[in-house]
Amino acid sequence: MAEKTPSPSPQPSPRKRGEGARPPIENLSPLQARAEFEALASEIAEHDRRYYQEDAPTVSDADYDALRRRYEALEQAFPELATAQSLTKKVGAKPSEKFAKVKHAVPMLSLGNVFSDEEVEDFVARVGRFLGRTESIAFTAEPKIDGLSCSLRYESGRLVQAATRGDGYEGEDVTANIRTIGEIPEKLRGDAPGILEIRGEVYMAHEDFAALNERQKAAGKPLFANPRNAAAGSLRQLDSSITAQRPLHFFAYAWGEMSAPLAQTQMGVLDAFKHFGLHVNPLTKICATVEDMLAHYRAIEAQRATLGYDIDGVVYKVDDIGLQERLGFVSRAPRWAVAHKFPAERATTILRDIEIQVGRTGALTPVARLEPVTVGGVVVSNATLHNEDEIARKDIRIGDTVVVQRAGDVIPQIVEVVKEKRPHGARPYEFPHVCPRCGSAALREIDAKTGEADVVRRCTGSLICPAQAVERLKHFASRNAMDIEGLGDKQIEFFFDEGMIKTASDIFTLAEREAQMSPRLAEREGYGETSVRNLFAAIAARRKIPINRFIYALGVRHVGETNARRLARHFGDFESLRETARAAAPDSEARARIDTIDGVGPVVSEALHDFFAEPHNEREIDALLKQVTLEPMPAVASASPVAGKTVVFTGSLERLTRDEAKAQAERFGAHVAGSVSKKTDLVVAGPGAGSKLKKAAELGIEVISEDEWFKRTGQG
Ligand code: IVH
Repeated sequence: MAEKTPSPSPQPSPRKRGEGARPPIENLSPLQARAEFEALASEIAEHDRRYYQEDAPTVSDADYDALRRRYEALEQAFPELATAQSLTKKVGAKPSEKFAKVKHAVPMLSLGNVFSDEEVEDFVARVGRFLGRTESIAFTAEPKIDGLSCSLRYESGRLVQAATRGDGYEGEDVTANIRTIGEIPEKLRGDAPGILEIRGEVYMAHEDFAALNERQKAAGKPLFANPRNAAAGSLRQLDSSITAQRPLHFFAYAWGEMSAPLAQTQMGVLDAFKHFGLHVNPLTKICATVEDMLAHYRAIEAQRATLGYDIDGVVYKVDDIGLQERLGFVSRAPRWAVAHKFPAERATTILRDIEIQVGRTGALTPVARLEPVTVGGVVVSNATLHNEDEIARKDIRIGDTVVVQRAGDVIPQIVEVVKEKRPHGARPYEFPHVCPRCGSAALREIDAKTGEADVVRRCTGSLICPAQAVERLKHFASRNAMDIEGLGDKQIEFFFDEGMIKTASDIFTLAEREAQMSPRLAEREGYGETSVRNLFAAIAARRKIPINRFIYALGVRHVGETNARRLARHFGDFESLRETARAAAPDSEARARIDTIDGVGPVVSEALHDFFAEPHNEREIDALLKQVTLEPMPAVASASPVAGKTVVFTGSLERLTRDEAKAQAERFGAHVAGSVSKKTDLVVAGPGAGSKLKKAAELGIEVISEDEWFKRTGQG
C-alpha cells in the first residue's frame, strides 16, 4: 500500500488553521477584508491547481473547506468583494493547458456537503419548504464515488466526445483516453436520444491501484497517493496507450445535454443508462423518508471497506426530475442534492519522534514520525503537527499513543493524545529555538498590532541556511537586487547542486576557484569559453554596487526595494545601518531610531534586528563586504516634476515593462502604487486600461499617456 508522506516542505500558514484562528469577520475593516479575501483567493486557487491539475493536493479536504467557508463568509459580509471572477461562482480550477478545451453545454456543478444526521434533516426540510410541501419527498441515496467526474457525449448513440469537469464550465477533451475504458460503450444499446451527455465518475479499484503502485515502484517511478489521484493521473495522460494499461471504471449518475427526456425520475434515468449498457452503482436506492435515507447511509458505510473502491460519502438526490427543475441551483451546487460525507478515518498508534523540517522560507515545520498504522486502507507513518502551538495545545509528547486521522486524502493529522497510555517520564516537547539545518536562531515574529507571536517559527540564517540557500541566492543575484547577468535561477541551481556556490559571497570567489577546477567550467555541458567569460565579467561588474541594492539583495524579511532605499537614505552607509540594527533589541533606543524612519515600522525594525543579530549572517556579510564595494544610492532627480508624487501605471505600456516603469518612476523620486486612491497624484495609462482609469476620473486625478510620461520625466 502507498506510504503517505507529508510533502517535503509543507508551509503551515496561519490560514491553514481554518476559521477559528482568524479574527471575527465583524472586526475587519473593509481594507483588511479585501486584503484577506485576495490572499485567500490566491491560496485557494493554488490548492485548486494542485488538486485538479497536478493531482497532488497538499491540504486536507477539511482545511480546504475551512478556507472556502471563510472566503464565502467574507464575500457575504462585504458584498463589494464579489466579482464575476469570484471563486464562489466557480467549481474547481481552470483546465490545464495540455488538452484541447471542451465547453460544457450544461455546466458540471458540484455538491454541497453535510456531515451529520441533523444536517441531513435540515436539508430535507429545506427542500420541502422550498417546494411548499408537507408530505415527504422521495430521494435517491447512492455512494459518492471518490474518483473524477467526466461527461460522455453520445450523438445518435455513438460516443463522440468525453471531457473532464475542469472548472465546471470548461473541461479537457479526454475522448481518446475514455475510449480505452472497457466498460464505457462506444455505441449505446437500444434507442438513445440523438444527443445525450452521460455524466459519472471514473475511478480505480483498490486492487488495481495496489498493482499499479507495485509496477511504479519496480520501475522507480513515483507512487500515487490514492486511487483517485491514480485515476486522474491515468485519465489525463497525453499518451492514451498509457491510459489503456491502467484499469479504470465508470459509474454513471447524472446527465448534461439531452435532446429528449429519458424518464421523469432520477431512478428512471439510471435504469435507462443501464439499458444503454452503462454501469450504475448497485447500491442506489429510493428512500421515502429521512429515516430511510439515514438507514441507507449507515448500510453503505458498513460496506465501505469491502466495496473494493473508494467512496467518501452518500449522495441524496430528489427523485422527481420535475421537482429538481423547480428547485434549481444556488451558485455552484444544486438545491435538490447534497453529499453526506463520511467522518474522517482514524486509528491509534505511537508517536516515535518529532522531526523538524525547514522550508524554503525558513519556516520550521514539525512532522510526527509514527509507528506505521493502517488508516482506512493506507499505511501511515508520518503526520503533520502544523506548528509548535498545536503541539503545546494538544500536549503531544514523544512516546505518546496518539489518534491519527486521515481526512480525505492528504497529510494525516494527529487528533489527540490518549493520555492514559502516556509512558512514565514523558516530558513536554520542547520546540527547538535554533534551526536544525544551520544552527541559526529560529524566531517567531511578533505582530506589531496585536502583540501576538506568529504561529510559524522561522530560521533567521537566511544567508547561510542550506534549506533556504538556493532561493536566497536566486534573490541575491536577481535583476532588482545585484543584477548579475547570466546568473539566473537555473544557473544558481546548477552551481548550488555542484557545490560551487553555497553562499552569496561564493559568487565573487567563483572565478578564482574555477581556475583550480578540473574539469574547468568551460568544458562542462551548457558552458563554453565565451559564456564563462561573460559570466565572470558580469560578476566582476557588480563588485561595485549601490548600497540600496545591496541591502535589498540580503533578503531580510519585510525589506523590499522601497524599504531598502529608505534605509539607505536614512543611514547613508552600511556600517551605521548594521550597528543600529544589531543594537535594536526590543525597547532599545536603536529600535526606536529605526521605527521612526519615514515609512519603516516595527515589523521591519524587528526583522532587521533578528537578521543582523544572527552571528551566521554577520560572518556572511563580512565575507561579502570583502568582495564588494558599496556605493552611495543614485541621487534622485529632485527637480523632477514627479518627485514625491504617487503614480499608478495601468493598461499595457508599450515602451516600458512594468518593472522598468516602476524603476524609472522611483529613480525620479516618485512612489508607485498598485491601485488608484485619493492619495494618487498621477495615473499613466496605456491601451486597455479599465477600472483604474474609471476610478481616476471619478476622483479627478490627472491621467497621462506613456509618451507624456517620457516627456514629463525629461526623457524625450
Ligand atoms: S451528482 C449536479 N452523484 O462528487 C450534481 N456526484 O462533490 C452532480 N460524485 O462533482 C453530481 N459520486 O464528481 C453525484 N453519485 C454521485 C457522485 C458524485 C461522486 C462527485 C462528482 C461531483 C462531486 C461533488
